[in-house]
Amino acid sequence: MKVSGRIALVTGAAQGLGKAFAEALLENGAKVLISDVNAEAGEATLKAFQEKYGENNVMFVRADVTSQAQMEAVFQQVHERFGGLDIMSNNAGIVGEAREAWEKTVDVNLKGVIRGTNLALDLMRQDKGGRGGVIVNTASIAGLMPVPGGEIYAATKHGVIGFSRSWAKNPLCVDNGVRVNALCPSFSATAMMPRADSADGEVGKYIEEHGVMSPEYVAEGFMDLVQDDSKNGAVLKMVQKLGKVYVEY
Ligand SMILES: NC(=O)c1ccc[n+]([C@@H]2O[C@H](COP(=O)([O-])OP(=O)(O)OC[C@H]3O[C@@H](n4cnc5c(N)ncnc54)[C@H](O)[C@@H]3O)[C@@H](O)[C@H]2O)c1
Repeated sequence: MKVSGRIALVTGAAQGLGKAFAEALLENGAKVLISDVNAEAGEATLKAFQEKYGENNVMFVRADVTSQAQMEAVFQQVHERFGGLDIMSNNAGIVGEAREAWEKTVDVNLKGVIRGTNLALDLMRQDKGGRGGVIVNTASIAGLMPVPGGEIYAATKHGVIGFSRSWAKNPLCVDNGVRVNALCPSFSATAMMPRADSADGEVGKYIEEHGVMSPEYVAEGFMDLVQDDSKNGAVLKMVQKLGKVYVEY
């Protein structure tokens, strides 16, 4: 897909990987709605992007991906203000393994992606008046391997991959011009990443062996999944020391 002139929505875009994805889309000439639960960071990112890419090419809407009503409002805004949707990045995610936190991790990382995909499909499906499009769901390398101590996170990310690969083969997507892909980065330098000096033994060892990617580099993989029309149901693993590797099933 040629990105110039297209309309995109990125969740969890106030900072980190989502911000880098939004910036890559803006650099390539898309109009982007950035959404995040963090209003302060979202407004700051909006201001920076507007100065660089033009007032009318980007907007921010505060929304929590766990709220159906708030997310419906976001999709309504992208439709009304920008005129449809071509590119969806379901990216918002958290880490939370504690007994009192695990359900929120599932709500954000897995149910949030399901909700965002359902709502994106409503706007993209050609049989519903859409133009087709591409959905890129941020999974993780934790969706491809066991993560002792990160069982809930791993479960949600395995779920995101299975969910994305399944939609990609569903005639409802195939016949309506919608591609669905999953992005699986290893560690990238964002607020979410454990600090190498505070990481426990296994994590510290993994970081040392595999390296840490810049969000801008991860955004290159994201853009590959957006731009390459041959990629549908693709699972792109990214590791600093390995580069970009499409997972073979
Ligand atoms: N950084 C890494 O090493 C890494 C590796 C693999 C996958 N990921 C995934 O990448 C995605 C982005 O993570 P990041 O590293 O940029 O982390 P981050 O913490 O820097 O950014 C996450 C963003 O999501 C937002 N967010 C959190 N909960 C939300 C909610 N309920 N509704 C809306 N927005 C919400 C946060 O406010 C924040 O702006 C996540 O899905 C994460 O699991 C990150």
